[in-house]
Amino acid sequence: MRFCYTEDYTAMSKKAASIIAAQVVLKQDSVLGLATGSTPIGTYDELVRLYESGDVDFSHIHTVNLDEYVGLNADHDQSYHFFMHQHLFGRVNIKKEQTNLPDGSAKDPVAECARYDQVIRDLGGVDLQLLGLGHNGHIGFNEPAAEFPKGTHLVALTESTIQANSRLFEKKEDVPRQALTMGIQTIMSAKKILVVVSGKDKAAIVKEAFFGPVTPNVPASILQLHPDVTIVGDADAFSLIDVK
Ligand code: GLP
Repeated sequence: MRFCYTEDYTAMSKKAASIIAAQVVLKQDSVLGLATGSTPIGTYDELVRLYESGDVDFSHIHTVNLDEYVGLNADHDQSYHFFMHQHLFGRVNIKKEQTNLPDGSAKDPVAECARYDQVIRDLGGVDLQLLGLGHNGHIGFNEPAAEFPKGTHLVALTESTIQANSRLFEKKEDVPRQALTMGIQTIMSAKKILVVVSGKDKAAIVKEAFFGPVTPNVPASILQLHPDVTIVGDADAFSLIDVK
């Protein structure tokens, strides 16, 4: 694992964006695995800036997002479809038909999961997967569990995740209780993984996930076994580990 220490959120976002931009410059038709949550918003803003200044061209890339809430339509303002359009897809020259997210409104979630895995396989897998980190160690929506889930699957969100994500909804009852998420095997199959972490509230889980035992109780801990992981964090998120 490579730890990349940055001073603050802005520096973290710039560093992460430069890693993604380098990937796209080196391989124009990269398959990027993308994430939602508050942490990558600055990274996406910086990618937009790099696009506007003519440094990166996104027209040949394909994207696959990690996850989507069950029961929200793509135009719901808290759906991850909406998030991606708002923060990235609607602001750069990514071709809409080359972007992919699980369909949280699918009538048959099991069939939708199988379809999504096939989409990823057909694209030849993910070149660079961007990840945030949940407070309980979740990646995508792979919540702490007795085992590491493999492919895309339907997941019941834990109370801690519902609580954390309720800040974005009008009231806690509005937070969907289920989601579709890429599995751990799919995430681990990405050629490269880039994790972004920011803030004091992530310091404890950063230490536990990347320096503690590898266990499905802390899903992100499996990343310790991936051959090419870069963790870009700010001073607060790295405050309990020694990586400076
Ligand atoms: C959400 C997303 C994850 C994200 C995590 C952390 O539940 N499904 O992909 O990494 O929470 O989010 P944040 O960056 O807002 O702390």
